[in-house]
Amino acid sequence: MNLTDKLELNKYLEDGEFEELILSEDAEQNEYLAARARAVRESVYGKEVYLRGLIEFTNYCKNDCLYCGIRRSNKNAQRYRLSEEEILDCCESGYELGFRTFVLQGGEDAYFTDEKLVPLIKEIKRRHPDCALTLSIGEREKESYQRLYDAGADRYLLRHETADKKHYESLHPSEMSFEHRIKCLYDLKEIGYQVGCGMIIGSPGQEVGHLIKDLRFLRELQPEMVGIGPFIPHHDTPFSDRETGSVDITLRLLSIIRLMLPKVLLPATTALGTADGLGREKGILAGANVVMPNLSPTDVRDKYLLYDNKICTGDEAAECIRCMTLRVQKVGYEVVQSRGDHSNFVKN
Ligand code: SAM
Ligand code: FES
Repeated sequence: MNLTDKLELNKYLEDGEFEELILSEDAEQNEYLAARARAVRESVYGKEVYLRGLIEFTNYCKNDCLYCGIRRSNKNAQRYRLSEEEILDCCESGYELGFRTFVLQGGEDAYFTDEKLVPLIKEIKRRHPDCALTLSIGEREKESYQRLYDAGADRYLLRHETADKKHYESLHPSEMSFEHRIKCLYDLKEIGYQVGCGMIIGSPGQEVGHLIKDLRFLRELQPEMVGIGPFIPHHDTPFSDRETGSVDITLRLLSIIRLMLPKVLLPATTALGTADGLGREKGILAGANVVMPNLSPTDVRDKYLLYDNKICTGDEAAECIRCMTLRVQKVGYEVVQSRGDHSNFVKN
């Protein structure tokens, strides 16, 4: 039996078999992998592509991840944080444009305590009861995650970055703990969030064995969302001279993840669109079913620079959504106005 079929049937794959799928240069095998991933995503979500309105509400961060352009050591980053009013305005304009999920993403900014976030979350949900709210604000304690969930947050994105402890430690300063990051993901699951993890593809020091560990970790955690994108260097980080991660490997991993977790919400990420002008379209054709246009005010867009040459930093939200809708249509799919929940979370 070929490896794609084995994966789709949820059979155990040896490390060597995963490696062959991930690194394959066999065009026929790669096309078959992508075709099965599309078939599986269509059997669960049809041709629908879900929109997430990304609001990058603060670029202050206490962390110092070596790959990240807004790490605290980057003294050249111009720091900003949006006011509650500005965040609510982003949601308002996003709602009018058809977004039904808002993603509040930011650095780990101590300013945003539970006391500040709880009323903000409640107000967003009061104004937009038909929308889902996703948080992506890093590691917190379980009690805090619980408070934010009780206030109305539905989903949480926290990439695990790499499932290999040693590799994790080479990408992060010593005060950051691999165990804590993984614990956060299990805490979020236990509380009842739709949980997203994910890894950077081609981060410095990454070997194919690390990616296989990532895949086994996904099988164990069973996340509702998986965000992956190629590593892209940022000029003011210690990894400024490292190479961008492979788009082809990212695409094959999207297909593999779709086959392993058929119902997963899988974004075609901005990093993929930055590394390759058609990266997001290719991502959708590899089995992705989510896109995340930017809803942040244009005057802060270029300050949330995680990596160099990030796309869409100059466009208004309306322009981003128009552009994404056309790109998605061109490859035969359809952007829909919906919360776009994981199919296990759809309320009847
Ligand atoms: N602070 C939150 C957290 O840690 O989850 C959310 C913001 S963080 C900037 C979002 C994600 O950006 C990270 O999880 C990481 O995977 C990704 N990222 C950061 N720098 C990157 C780079 N140079 N290339 C690709 N992805 C990067
Ligand atoms: Fe905190 Fe990147 S180091 S968001």
